[in-house]
Amino acid sequence: MIKLTIDNRVIETQEGKTVLEAALQAGIYVPNLCYHPDISPIGSCRLCIVEIHGIDGFPTACTTIVTQGMIVHTDTEKIQEYRKNIVWLILSEHPAEMNKSSQLMKVVDYIGIKKLLLKHKPPSKNLPIFSDDPLFVRDLNRCILCGRCVRMCQEVRGVGAIGFINRGINTIVGTNANSLMKDADCRFCGACVEVCPAGALIDRETYGEKDRKAVLLPCQNTCPAGIDIPRYVGLIAERRFQDALDVIREKVPFPHLLGCVCDHLCETECRRNEINDPVAIRALKRFVAERESGTSKRKVNIAPETGKKVAIIGSGPAGLTAAWFLRKLGHATTVFEALPEAGGMMRVGIPRYRLPKEVLDKEIQDIASIGVDIKTNTKIESLDELFNSGFDATFVALGAVEGVKLGIPGEGDHRVLDGISLLRSINLGQKVDIQGKVAVVGGGNVAIDVARSALKVGAEKVTILYRRTQKEMPADPEEVKEALNEGVNIQFLAVPHRVLAKSDKLKVECIRMRLGPPDESGRSRPIPLEGSEFTISVNRLIVAVGQKPIVPKEFNLSLNRWGYIYTDEETLTCSRQGVFSGGDIVSGPASVIKAIQAGRKAAVFIDKYLGGKGQLEQKPLPQQQDNPWLGKHDGFAYIKRAKMPTLVLKKRIGSFDQVECGFDEKSAVEEASRCLRCQLRLQISKAPLPPKKPDL
Ligand code: FES
Repeated sequence: MIKLTIDNRVIETQEGKTVLEAALQAGIYVPNLCYHPDISPIGSCRLCIVEIHGIDGFPTACTTIVTQGMIVHTDTEKIQEYRKNIVWLILSEHPAEMNKSSQLMKVVDYIGIKKLLLKHKPPSKNLPIFSDDPLFVRDLNRCILCGRCVRMCQEVRGVGAIGFINRGINTIVGTNANSLMKDADCRFCGACVEVCPAGALIDRETYGEKDRKAVLLPCQNTCPAGIDIPRYVGLIAERRFQDALDVIREKVPFPHLLGCVCDHLCETECRRNEINDPVAIRALKRFVAERESGTSKRKVNIAPETGKKVAIIGSGPAGLTAAWFLRKLGHATTVFEALPEAGGMMRVGIPRYRLPKEVLDKEIQDIASIGVDIKTNTKIESLDELFNSGFDATFVALGAVEGVKLGIPGEGDHRVLDGISLLRSINLGQKVDIQGKVAVVGGGNVAIDVARSALKVGAEKVTILYRRTQKEMPADPEEVKEALNEGVNIQFLAVPHRVLAKSDKLKVECIRMRLGPPDESGRSRPIPLEGSEFTISVNRLIVAVGQKPIVPKEFNLSLNRWGYIYTDEETLTCSRQGVFSGGDIVSGPASVIKAIQAGRKAAVFIDKYLGGKGQLEQKPLPQQQDNPWLGKHDGFAYIKRAKMPTLVLKKRIGSFDQVECGFDEKSAVEEASRCLRCQLRLQISKAPLPPKKPDL
């Protein structure tokens, strides 16, 4: 250890440290700008000058290595005067309007020359402002040439997209030939923006300290289960597939299933959207799940038995997720399912061409394999019976399984079918009677699933009637595209208002709509166009306009006015002691990942109710610091999203084989490498800021 004196305080530090590091370590602030803890010092701004006994002049603290017995003064009158001059020189050409939150502004405030500067009107440098780049803006007029961005890009990231260009007083920070960042092979990691002390590089999106992580890491923030997406995508790029899967399994028990059907809100928010296309996060999840080596399962730790028993009603994603986590926490967990097979809407509401049966079977088997007891063909009629038979808590996760009717005359005809019931029959292998011309009413994923499935089980022609336009369709655009590819027609701005039963066919009277101002859903309200009635003739009319819940009266639970179970939003507790509820039965029909979120939450609060800490996560993969080196990648911004290979059309006819074929290893690694690695920015050290000084 080295002992030295700074400002009359004797301090100790490690050998090899600089005077600035030693001072900051000891809580002695020395003004600085070109210094940053993550990059090598260059001593260019000279704000950190100090006086050192035995050394002439004013060495810079950031480049001077400590020696035994060194005596340093950081804040003498002379130093203060020199610093004011240096700041004056730095700012003499800087725009008068300084970025208020910048380090520069704080240092200027600290040095105390703000009043002097207020009288100064700097001449305009007339340097370019690059506002055409995605994600951030570069205003060269604000650059103070501290070089932190350049060193970060070159030494830490190994990218070298920016550098000092021109010479002497014409020196600026920029790209070769002043090109846009995307043409300079920028990786858009944001490191340069993060370390800029002057506000010359600023994010397009504004945020505060509170929402900083959410804005800079939107994929993870958007994932309802909070999966560490940046981490697993990074591991795939490093070919560490099993590790990537372990990261996903930290949060969810269904990596493969989600890789097939998740509605991937993370991709909608992915920052790469601003450059070209988002990273194919969902398909990457499927890729690693398909390579499951079995080691994740071996890593599952089951806590010692707590002696508590939990009943879960419903084996959909919410119920099974809660079961998985509660079992891992040591509770005896039983799932009750009324249908002959477990899986809830994953089993009966999603067609097999999107989610193969084997995928679902395997992941449910994984849950059963840790000791979750799944009882199928078991309908629960009364919660009292469960409590009487020794269960300590109950999670009601029934889903919203009943199709909503259109409420139009003639709907009672036996050829008018309910979409969700049809999917259930097909998925359970029951015989269905679909033939001839079929019209499907609705615009969500169920309507698309029904339309595509109808073509596979005997329909000659399928037309979807949707009351708004394609833009407002809630269905996944990829699914809509595939439906159109497979020959489904969509009539937009049309809705049936009467069904007339004829002996051979149904006459469906429809009316055209126009879009009015937005309704409470935020989408344009469809308004009937008078005199636009038309009639179509079909063999089957299938209604897929939504689902509603059925909660047995005997449960004695408070319901809201729409018939959903009333719960406390935070804890998922219901109106009865020891009863929790979540998923579609509370929220209305939502995505699988949202149901998983509810299952996770239920597990937390049920565990707490039973005396635990509600700590779900076991971390099978130790968290390591990411490698900050990105390296150069020619044309990085132009690399296109990997295309998902799909089953050829002729093989889809009459078959429920999975349509998306999945990535091969090369595509997966390349796709993962398109990630901007936004998380690296959050790992950059904070630059040392001046202590707050009272206004003089
Ligand atoms: Fe040390 Fe700039 S010279 S911080």
